[in-house]
Amino acid sequence: MKTPTEIRPVAGKLGILLPGLGAVATTFIAGVEMIRQGMAEPVGSLTQMGTIRLGKRTDNRSPRISDFVPLASLDSIEFGAWDLFPDDAFTAASKAGVLSKEHLASVKGFLEGIHPMEAVFDKGYVKRLDGPHVKTGATKMDLAEQLMADIARFKKERGVDRCVAVWCGSTEVYRPLTPVHATLEAFEKGLRENSDDIAPSAIYAYACIRSGVPYANGAPNLSVDFPAMHELARREGIPIAGKDFKTGQTLMKTILAPGFKARLLGLEGWYSTNILGNRDGEVLDDPESFKSKEVSKLGVLEHIFQPHLHPKLYGHYSHVVRINYYPPRGDNKEGWDNIDIFGWLNYPMQIKIDFLCRDSILAAPIVLDLALFLDLAHRAGMAGTQEWLSFYFKSPMTAEGLYPEHDLFIQLMKLKNTLRWMKGEDLITHLGLEYYD
Ligand SMILES: NC(=O)c1ccc[n+]([C@@H]2O[C@H](COP(=O)([O-])OP(=O)(O)OC[C@H]3O[C@@H](n4cnc5c(N)ncnc54)[C@H](O)[C@@H]3O)[C@@H](O)[C@H]2O)c1
Repeated sequence: MKTPTEIRPVAGKLGILLPGLGAVATTFIAGVEMIRQGMAEPVGSLTQMGTIRLGKRTDNRSPRISDFVPLASLDSIEFGAWDLFPDDAFTAASKAGVLSKEHLASVKGFLEGIHPMEAVFDKGYVKRLDGPHVKTGATKMDLAEQLMADIARFKKERGVDRCVAVWCGSTEVYRPLTPVHATLEAFEKGLRENSDDIAPSAIYAYACIRSGVPYANGAPNLSVDFPAMHELARREGIPIAGKDFKTGQTLMKTILAPGFKARLLGLEGWYSTNILGNRDGEVLDDPESFKSKEVSKLGVLEHIFQPHLHPKLYGHYSHVVRINYYPPRGDNKEGWDNIDIFGWLNYPMQIKIDFLCRDSILAAPIVLDLALFLDLAHRAGMAGTQEWLSFYFKSPMTAEGLYPEHDLFIQLMKLKNTLRWMKGEDLITHLGLEYYD
């Protein structure tokens, strides 16, 4: 792929559209507004706080990423959302219970001004939810057209030039690919004929791409990750990314596992369990929704350890992941890991992790970075799957036949090299021999 000759400059406002106005989406919106008002720092966001080394280590050039590539500024962002509950963002954030009352009070007026548009929803895809604020239409194509009309109206009313969408809706039940997902033609026929195999999230993705809106999927359900959608994204010149925000336990896994692998420490087993009490936890308490999450969480180790290359070290490990819905804990998840490793002469060792994390606090900066980077990719003329954004996902989308890269540090290198490539800077290989010539 050749370097983009030109990245279209940022001009005007950027609309960030969020299907799903729950814990993650409201924590993200409230946080951006607090940062804009100078009340908080954008901790955890690469686009806001990250730097990028350019040239040799001796060159001392490490600008901020936001000074290196033209990203939309926080001040230029307008928010839009869809949800099956009509609550404004303040009410939804209060119910989610992530941010303190004081923090929410500080941006109350702003949040109260954000009202979700009616959702495209099907209870068959999220068994634990039912809400009144939903669209009706004779066919799924009708529903997609209503979403496209929402996007057009949002742009007009808010005076927005460009939009990006990040799925922050609930995890849908696991469904394998069917022929309706295979080609764009089959998918559009399925929309017109109300195919049961088309999930609401895929209708949003279709409507967004058709409206020229890049789309990232924060949940593990397929949404935008199947051949018909890849075809549409490439045809329309729209960047897409997914799946499933990489936050708590899986983030830890993709930090630690590459270390064990680097030192060739063997793995006997990795047992992960969580307690979680937010609405996401309630939805994931349904075995069919959990199945989507399990598939997304389980793949990580296999790709990092490459058992086919190291059968003696990683050929037989046991990997178990559990999520337990436990209401008292709310959004403040607790994730335990017990890791059984072995070293020299097969002597066993154990590692225990107890991560008292906050799910939405970890996810919010990811939503921001994905939105800004997808908008950048769009202006740079990049279309289809954006593998360089794997850094943010538990189950990164890749080209067909290509295994995903899960190692967080390789993902970061890939992301930064992509930014260097976009700007025509030398890629950094870490070879470093030139310092010793
Ligand atoms: N927080 C994290 O660390 C994290 C990590 C990875 C993935 N995720 C995923 O992000 C998503 C959001 O998480 P959350 O904690 O905000 O959940 P949440 O339950 O608080 O919010 C989800 C919102 O989506 C709405 N919704 C469901 N289906 C919809 C539809 N078809 N259209 C519009 N709205 C719809 C729900 O009414 C709810 O308000 C979930 O899928 C979750 O699995 C979260």
